Order: sequence, then C-alpha cells, then structure tokens
Amino acid sequence: MEEIKFYYVENIPLELHKVRVVQKLHLVPIERRLKALEEGGYNTFRLTTNDVFLDMLTDSGTNAMSDNQLAAMMRADDAYAGSQSFFRLQKAVEDVLGKKYYLPVHQGRAAENILSNAYIRKGSLIPMNYHFTTTMAHITQYGGKIAELLYDEGYVIDSAHPFKGNMNIEKLEETIKTHGAKNIPFIRMEASTNLIGGQPFSVQNLRDVRTIADKYKIRLVLDASLLGENAYLVHLREEEFKESSLGEIIKIMTDLADIVYFSARKLSSSRGGGICTNDHDVYQELEALIPLFEGFLTYGGISVREIESMAVGLYETLDETMIRQSPDFIAYLVNSLDAHGVPMVKPAGVLGAHVNAMDICDHIPQKEYPAGALAAALYLISGIRGMERGTLSNQRDEYGNETLADMELVRLAVPRRVFTLSQIKYVVDRMAWLYENRKLIGGLRFVYEPPVLRFFMGGLEPVNDWPQKLIAKFKEDFGESL
Ligand SMILES: Cc1ncc(COP(=O)(O)O)c(C=O)c1O
Repeated sequence: MEEIKFYYVENIPLELHKVRVVQKLHLVPIERRLKALEEGGYNTFRLTTNDVFLDMLTDSGTNAMSDNQLAAMMRADDAYAGSQSFFRLQKAVEDVLGKKYYLPVHQGRAAENILSNAYIRKGSLIPMNYHFTTTMAHITQYGGKIAELLYDEGYVIDSAHPFKGNMNIEKLEETIKTHGAKNIPFIRMEASTNLIGGQPFSVQNLRDVRTIADKYKIRLVLDASLLGENAYLVHLREEEFKESSLGEIIKIMTDLADIVYFSARKLSSSRGGGICTNDHDVYQELEALIPLFEGFLTYGGISVREIESMAVGLYETLDETMIRQSPDFIAYLVNSLDAHGVPMVKPAGVLGAHVNAMDICDHIPQKEYPAGALAAALYLISGIRGMERGTLSNQRDEYGNETLADMELVRLAVPRRVFTLSQIKYVVDRMAWLYENRKLIGGLRFVYEPPVLRFFMGGLEPVNDWPQKLIAKFKEDFGESL
C-alpha cells in the first residue's frame, strides 16, 4: 500500500476523500452536559445526540457512507420475494467473501441468534478468541457457555504484540479434549476482537485454528464484522502478506471458515447483516430460521435500500484508502495520548482508541465501574461520548454476582471517514486534561439494573459529588470555554 510522506509538516494521516454532506454538531455548555448525564443515568448509551459533540460511542451504523452507496439505494427493487437488490448483494457476498450461500439478517446479533438457535444446546461450549457482548448473551440464552482462549499477551494492555487477538492453540486443543468435541458445535474466531481493544489475529493463527477444527471435526465460525480492518493490519504486520491486497487477504481468511457471519453496520458501512457459507448442509440447517426470526429469504429484515448499500459497501471494503482511514486515525489518536502519558491499549487496534480506565481510575474499585465513571467524566468535560467496555458491560454470573472484567476500557470509536483531524486533536486535548485531573473522578452505582445486556439501558448515579468537583476544576482551567 502506498505511503504519503510530508516534507515540512509532521507526518499525519491524510484524508483521501472529500466531505460533501455535513451535519451540524452541538457542543453544549458543561452545565447542560451535567443535566444530560443526570437525565441519562450516567450511561453514555442514554445520551441524546443533541447533547453530544463528538459521538465516539461506536462505529456500528455510524460509518460515513459513500456517494456510490447512496446512489445505489435509489435503484432498490422493492419486492417481498425475489428482489433484484438481493441478488446483487448475494453476488457481492460471493465476490468479496467467497461464499455462495448467503442468508440475510437484520444485524449482527440476529446472525448470532440464528446460529445459537441452530447449534447451541444445554451443555454446549463455544471456544473463541474473545467474546462480544451480544454473542455471549445469545449463547448463554440458549444454555451454552463460552471459553475465551487468548494467549496471555492478549490481556497485556501496553504491548507491542502485533496479534493480540490470536487464539491460544494449545488451550484450544486442551479445551476440546476436556469437554469433548461432541459438546462443541463450533469454534468462533472474532476478527479484531472488539472488547479487548480491536486487536487482530494473524492469518497463520487462523490456519492453526483450522487445523485443530479439522482434527476434531468441529466447524469454524468467523465473526467478520471487522474483517476489513483485520485484513489491513495483517497486511501491515504479517510478513507473508506485505505484498497482498486486502481482497486477497480477506478471501484467504473467509476460505478458512465454514461459516462467516457479520454485522453490516460495521463491515459494509450500511445496515443489516448476514450469514454465509459454501456448505449446503449448513445452509439448509439455517435456512428455515430466517423467515421465522428475520423475514423472507430475499430480505431478512433489511430494507431493500440498505441491501443495495450493503452490496456496494462490501465491494468498497476492498478499497485500502477507505479501510485504512479509521485505523490510521486511531493510531494517531493512541500515539498522541500516549505521548501525554495517558494509559492506552497498545498497539493501536481498530474501531477505536481504547483508554485504560483500570490504570487511570485505580482509586475506583471495579465494583464502582471505573470505565463507566471515566466515560461519564469525559463526556462531562468535553461533550465526547465514548463507551464503557468493562465490568458494567459484563453480565452477572448465574448466582447474581458481579463478574469483574479482565480490562476496564473506555472505547473512543473512530467510525470510517466521519471525524476530521482537528476533532481528533480536541479529543487528545480534553482526554489529556482529564488524565491530569483523574483523581477527581469517583465511582458509580446502579439505581436501575436491567437483567440482560444491562449496559444498554441501565441507570446509575455518582457515589458522591465528584461531578461538581470536576466541573469546578474545569471552570478554573477553561473559564467560560465550552
Ligand atoms: C465483533 C462483533 N460481533 C457482533 C456484533 C453485533 O452486531 P450488531 O450490533 O449489528 O447486532 C458486533 C457489534 O458491534 C461486533 O462488534
């Protein structure tokens, strides 16, 4: 991939697109931000966008769409059954992911529901490199359990390891021997493990997982929601693929899996999702579940307009200038914050920069949700909305006890082609200030805790008056600045 060097100015990631549609943002005063937090139960999911300046909650459904995606939406063929839009998408799936059978679903977790319904029984165990919230929720809903099998390096926050998302092959084999292959309906590999900082796995690791899967005749399922970015990091970090195109790397990875599923909100910068395979038996096992849960087989709960934009978005995943924008901006953000001493997940991964709240808020016990508190504090002093990825995002165990997360992270998502570099610099400035004043941040406690996926709609409150103290310091340093 080509490099662009600067002569006089520091090397910065250069946007290779122009902005043609813009949306006004709201940077409201700190007093309003405090009210918004109170109204939203100190949960950044419950803030409304009128109160948010930079929305770094997620890249899911928030990536900028291209002119060609929008244009494609205009030719959507509205039909309940047999829509031409669907056949264009089916072809895109085959061209890009190399799978001829495609089942449409309305988003990534719907694919997880279908796969869990078809394959998970009480006593099933799913080995995976790492879980995602919705994946685990579906597997446990159907009576299964998960086994996370990262190498120790995957849990090291400040690391130089290029592939922290690799599956521990020895542990995988041990787990299969202990639980028995017949209780393991599939092995799951997540491209760019979301919850541990968007960290990729290598192609070699996927090949090794495949070898074990073959040895024990277990299916291999690939969660491809962030496959494009994983492929980009393979290109940068795995010697064998230095000369390979994104398309070649993507095909090599999908070829190794029996079933590929994805959230199109991520993979193709659109909406929707899908499950695809070359195995006719798998297709038949899953086929009947689509009309039951999603919709007819040629739309699966996705609007036809989105089906068109998904097809174009899938082809655009092969365009390195599109795929590299977010990881390159993330690397810039991580390196800049690192230079200010802010503890970050390293090396920089994909989907967002991940701030290490366990370190920053080491004065807050995990049961008071340090990452949730840091996310709330960052919003308060900046209008930047990040997402807690720590104990708050975990579910309680079967006895109702808190399960403390391996990592307490605040994710600052960098959706594709959405933010400018000056906005990223604002994030650096405010996050660095907050780091200097970190001891002013206090814990949170639940006032309303939903039984499932509690982090989405749960309501919390500060354990004392720390938000007021933080505001007082902000005023001292920033005066009347927003
Ligand atoms: C790796 C991974 N898998 C599955 C999902 C679920 O996808 P969706 O949000 O479209 O339901 C996500 C969403 O963020 C994800 O990151």
